[in-house]
Amino acid sequence: MNNKMTITSIQKTKGLRPLVMITAYDALFAKLLEPSADIILVGDSLNMSFAGKSDTLSATLDQMIYHTNAVCMGAKNSFVVCDMPFGTYSTKEEALKNSTRVFQETSADCVKIEGGEDKADIIKYLTSNGIAVCGHIGLLPQSVRSEGGYKVKGKNEKEQLQLIDDARAVEKAGAFCMVIEGVKADIATEIANCVNIPIIGIGAGVGVDGQVLVFSDMLGLFEEFTPKFVKKYLNGSSLVKEAMKNYSKEVQNREFPQEIHTY
Ligand code: KIV
Repeated sequence: MNNKMTITSIQKTKGLRPLVMITAYDALFAKLLEPSADIILVGDSLNMSFAGKSDTLSATLDQMIYHTNAVCMGAKNSFVVCDMPFGTYSTKEEALKNSTRVFQETSADCVKIEGGEDKADIIKYLTSNGIAVCGHIGLLPQSVRSEGGYKVKGKNEKEQLQLIDDARAVEKAGAFCMVIEGVKADIATEIANCVNIPIIGIGAGVGVDGQVLVFSDMLGLFEEFTPKFVKKYLNGSSLVKEAMKNYSKEVQNREFPQEIHTY
């Protein structure tokens, strides 16, 4: 995946191959992850895995801009998505002002907005003012407090019909792709089949147009909890702890630094 993707090339993958999206929060990891990713998401999940908070709600726009800049520096060849944090897109005007800041102060390629039908007017306002938007429907982490927890969506007919309406409304408003999170796999597949833009799933089964994972979950670095949909491709926390233990032991035993590390 050497060529930087564009909105057009992302859309053209629909029906041809699944998109690979991964989060990153800094230049170091963005550079490591970039060679095998289509899209890098600077998710507000950084508030949990990077800043140690219990949810995403206290992430600020300044923080998102700081981390997006770092990711853009590390992954110069990647399509970068900046998550709009909670409370920064409650009205059309606020959404445009804040996402304009993201576009002016970083080289992010688009912003991501959580919400379906209820956010369609805002998405339309942004896209008609030159801000590319990735939607996000289903389980919305920014609604965790109002919903009283992380709830899988699409379990009954009412929720399923709402999800389909949400997907159609977000597409109609001009979003070029959409994340779908925490949704029963059969309904997520149905949604992917009833819109023309790519649907990128997280906890939404294999029948959608791509997958996204939080990098610190995927690398097994985040230890607080592991959602069912996470696959750990590395036992990162054990490897890091083992390396640190060895370093600590060698320092205490005066085995490090050796001759080769010494001027
Ligand atoms: O913030 C984030 O990392 C996200 C993903 C869970 C899609 O929005």
